Amino acid sequence: MCGIVGYIGTSEGRDILIDGLRKLEYRGYDSAGIAMLGEDSKLQIVRCKGKLSGLEGKLAEAPVSGSLGIAHTRWATHGRPCEANAHPHRSGPFALVHNGIIENYALLKEELESNGHRFSSQTDTEVIVALLDHEWQQVKDYRQAVRNTLKKLKGSFAVVIVNELEPDQLVAAKKESPLILGITENAFLLASDVPAILPYTRKVIYLNDEEIVFISRSGFQLESLPDGSPRTAFPHWVDWNPIMAEKAGYKHFMLKEIYEQPRAVIDTFRSVIDLESREIHFAELNLDRNLLRQIDKVCLVACGTSYHAAMVAKYMIEALCRVPVEVDLASEFRSRNPVLNERVLLVVISQSGETADTRAALKEGLDKGAQCRAIVNVVGSSIARMAQGVIYTHAGPEIGVASTKAFTTQLIALYLLAAYWASETGKLTREQTAQMIQDLIELPSKMEKILSDTDKINGWARKYMGFKDFLYLARGTLYPIALEGALKLKEISYIHAEGYAAGEMKHGPIALIDTEMPVMVLIKHGPLFEKMLSNIQEVKARDGIVLALIEGETSDAIGEAGNQFGMPVTSDWLAPVLFSLPLQLFAYQVAVLRGTDVDQPRNLAKSVTVE
Ligand code: AGP
Repeated sequence: MCGIVGYIGTSEGRDILIDGLRKLEYRGYDSAGIAMLGEDSKLQIVRCKGKLSGLEGKLAEAPVSGSLGIAHTRWATHGRPCEANAHPHRSGPFALVHNGIIENYALLKEELESNGHRFSSQTDTEVIVALLDHEWQQVKDYRQAVRNTLKKLKGSFAVVIVNELEPDQLVAAKKESPLILGITENAFLLASDVPAILPYTRKVIYLNDEEIVFISRSGFQLESLPDGSPRTAFPHWVDWNPIMAEKAGYKHFMLKEIYEQPRAVIDTFRSVIDLESREIHFAELNLDRNLLRQIDKVCLVACGTSYHAAMVAKYMIEALCRVPVEVDLASEFRSRNPVLNERVLLVVISQSGETADTRAALKEGLDKGAQCRAIVNVVGSSIARMAQGVIYTHAGPEIGVASTKAFTTQLIALYLLAAYWASETGKLTREQTAQMIQDLIELPSKMEKILSDTDKINGWARKYMGFKDFLYLARGTLYPIALEGALKLKEISYIHAEGYAAGEMKHGPIALIDTEMPVMVLIKHGPLFEKMLSNIQEVKARDGIVLALIEGETSDAIGEAGNQFGMPVTSDWLAPVLFSLPLQLFAYQVAVLRGTDVDQPRNLAKSVTVE
């Protein structure tokens, strides 16, 4: 979950590296560092605990320069955040940055220490560069030493290496952690994610697992780590532009991304729906009606917010497609030896397409012969390339650590998948499918309406920002949104919040209700409305504070109108998209009022590429 950048070219690379780190700081911000080869081909390394701004301050006093270098922003896995544990790590003529976890680092470290090596950090990364130094002293061949070193590593890595003795070589390798090669007219860049490369080029190569790339100013060679065979590179053109990755005048990326949701929803459904024929076409899903008819179980697997999207999809797919659906957290799925075979459709959901547990779950499905598909936001990401078919959400780059537009576009992708499936297998008539598409087409304007009317939500944030605990309650397709709303609040404001199925209140949580526990309830008209009203009465009877998102008009039965936010009416299947918006805004405003780091909350990172 760190951010890595590398540069080799014909011009000064320092600012390109630092700007790249800035674009990747959402991936981790415990410490940062840079290593460059100057004109004298001597390594210059500057590192700093804390955010990138600290490193920039150091560089202002002790500048580095050169046309070859690497840089890193860290999310600590081994060793606490401090300068000694910051990357790049050095041994002999080598400096190296790393994203991932080396599972056998302790054994390797012992062996190196028994050979007399002295370590200056607690990191697994320093073991890699010390091993490289050791291997090189054995063979005195840089490329072979790199190959020998990487073959001894167990676990995940994206590494970029500079060598004082090879001023025209930048070496990188990838196994499970993301790494992208950007190609410009006169330089090559390496980065953990696209935003660091976008300002310079859209021509990229997504390195595959167990590939090494040896880069000089005149070109690069790609080879397979296991057998050294040459690999062919396939450049992609990224369809994001640099502006999309900037804040566009918003105070935080998260707020920008909240307001981008109507557009993102439109872009996502327009990539799939023929607005003339009202038909649904998934260009890269590779799941036709014959395959669909063979499916007798669906497994939806994800982490965090993406898992909440999977929970909503269970209601939709079972109701519309009449196929049983299991929903699992990826970290649990991968270790419970699930029953999978060719009649099971495994769909993994991931914004980044790099989440380690979700990748492992997908691999479990592939190994056991399930039909494996993915819903992903980042084109060319590992999960997108591993799956046998993919639905892309078109949310654009999501920089804020708290997922918003990626989540609502995941819900749209899953809605379209359910509609497509039910239509293809005759469970929905053409008219019913057309109605689902019409409901979807009408959704963005309802989203805009909510986003333009935030005074009440902002008032709630001001009034309740000091409370220590929150409870979120809902039923049906809004139950996962109660979980999601609670996650949003806790992950950016650091307030404890729990989402619960409202029907569970009598089974325990009602004991929590008192004047210090605001309860956010999500209510939609329909068969569950009266039951939700009963839950609200139970809370109020115990002096609980009720804040209600209620579909349609406010209701006296719920309490004072000031604690009710009227929601536009839509179908049960699309209500989760609408109800997510006020909860995102509420969490955002509370976090801003509490002064937390909204885009880079403590201890978190945008993509959990380590287990
Ligand atoms: C969401 O607000 C969190 N940042 C987190 O739960 C996230 O959804 C989770 O880590 C999964 O990430 P992915 O969608 O990139 O796999």
